[in-house]
Amino acid sequence: MLSNRQMDRLINDYFKAKGLPVTPALTFEDITIVDKFSDIPTRSAIKDTRGRLAQNMYLNAPIISANMDTITESAMAIALARLGGIGFIHQFLPIDKRCQEIERVKRADSGIVEKPLLGLPSMTLKEAKSRMKLYNISSLLVVDEKTKKLVGILSHRDYQFERDESKRITDLMTRTKLVTALYDISLEKARAILSKHKVEKLPLVDKAGRLRGLMTTKDIQKTLEFPIASRDRKGRLLVGGTVGIGNGVIDEVEALLNSEIDVIMIDTARGNSKRMIEIIMALRKKFGKQVPFVAGNVDTVEGAVRLIEAGVDCVKVGIGGGSACKTRMGPGIGLPQITAVAQCAALAQHYGIPIIADGGIKNSSDFCKALAVGASGVMLGGLLSGTEETPGRPFYEDGEKWKIYRGSASLEFQLSRIDRDESDAPMRTPEGVPKRVRYKGEARFVVDELMGHLRSSMSYVGAWTLEEYHEKATCVWQTTSGFAEGKPHEVA
Ligand code: XMP
Repeated sequence: MLSNRQMDRLINDYFKAKGLPVTPALTFEDITIVDKFSDIPTRSAIKDTRGRLAQNMYLNAPIISANMDTITESAMAIALARLGGIGFIHQFLPIDKRCQEIERVKRADSGIVEKPLLGLPSMTLKEAKSRMKLYNISSLLVVDEKTKKLVGILSHRDYQFERDESKRITDLMTRTKLVTALYDISLEKARAILSKHKVEKLPLVDKAGRLRGLMTTKDIQKTLEFPIASRDRKGRLLVGGTVGIGNGVIDEVEALLNSEIDVIMIDTARGNSKRMIEIIMALRKKFGKQVPFVAGNVDTVEGAVRLIEAGVDCVKVGIGGGSACKTRMGPGIGLPQITAVAQCAALAQHYGIPIIADGGIKNSSDFCKALAVGASGVMLGGLLSGTEETPGRPFYEDGEKWKIYRGSASLEFQLSRIDRDESDAPMRTPEGVPKRVRYKGEARFVVDELMGHLRSSMSYVGAWTLEEYHEKATCVWQTTSGFAEGKPHEVA
């Protein structure tokens, strides 16, 4: 571990290079980014905004949705991965449900569905429908129970007007003229077959006719429609899962790995703790480098170094700055976010480990500043709250449409767990709040604005890539009147 003096020197040098004072602690409004000579003709010329999330894992858009129960389940994770970011499914679902959410993401728009949803000829329509509902899918490939050969497809049009749900699917499915292809077909050839036969599904089989996978027009279109999507080696969307630091964590990680999770977050409010370090080390020992681990939250160099030395691939930084947090107001803990992020970035840079800035992002300028001072990814809760893809339904009140956003340590959140019989732990003094937030439509509108402003910010400092942005961006400490000047304002 670095000595205190080495740490101080690293921080002082980094802060000096960034134009930041080491004291007092600063947050977003306290600084502004300095423009530099730029050879970038227009912001749309910037094509590379990749941020590193772990060793070999990059996000084309450095945006990460918060692992909160009112922010990220499969719908948000799908939306963000398509746009080049990633979502972390929250840890407050029982592990089987968490895995189901992950499978939903993995099935969403993969190039090839390796494990298509299957039905057996003897299944009733009712059974088939409940299976399809579970995975949000409208059709089943039907295989012979013994030979595993494809015998039919049950599509929406086969059952949409059928009222008798006790019917066997063998009597409803389409069984003739099934168009299939060998499983090693290229995406291009598959597209040609789908378009020639005017079908939407192309089951992939081996030479013996046994089912090996599925390609669909929808999936192929999605790969074209979302060219910067975050995808795994098999073309499926990337997704993160979250665990806490409770006793069952090893089993939970095992289950997440079985669901083919891409990255795991170990999340607790007090990341700089003995328990956290023990858990990281136990997970590393058991699972080696099978999956990248992100851990947090911390907001000091000491915390960041401990997590890095314990073996994490990425550190999540931020305590008490979140829009639904009361940790600064209750226990009085937490560093203003710019100082926290810059300090941890200085350290993480030394170790070659990326960091995520988490909490307090109110607008694109906060987003850009978090990246400018060294974050490789930015986690969003409040900014994504109220979007269509957040869990929960919108509601109308006072003539407007709203959704709910709440802190994970709020009283309301604790009550919801008791209601669901998931916790018999005593109530803790709340350190978060619930709120209604205006319905915002699709998450992509939020992401588009952030990315548009990020490209612009990069062009102002002459950075073609996020890596260059990290190198070149410097800031100055500004006064409150300096900040006020930067807002659209009236002229008397
Ligand atoms: P934003 O500002 O994006 O922040 O809404 C999201 C982050 O806030 C953290 N979080 C909490 N912090 N009490 C806290 O002190 C809470 O109840 C709470 N819930 C969430 C978390 O780090 C999240 O990503």
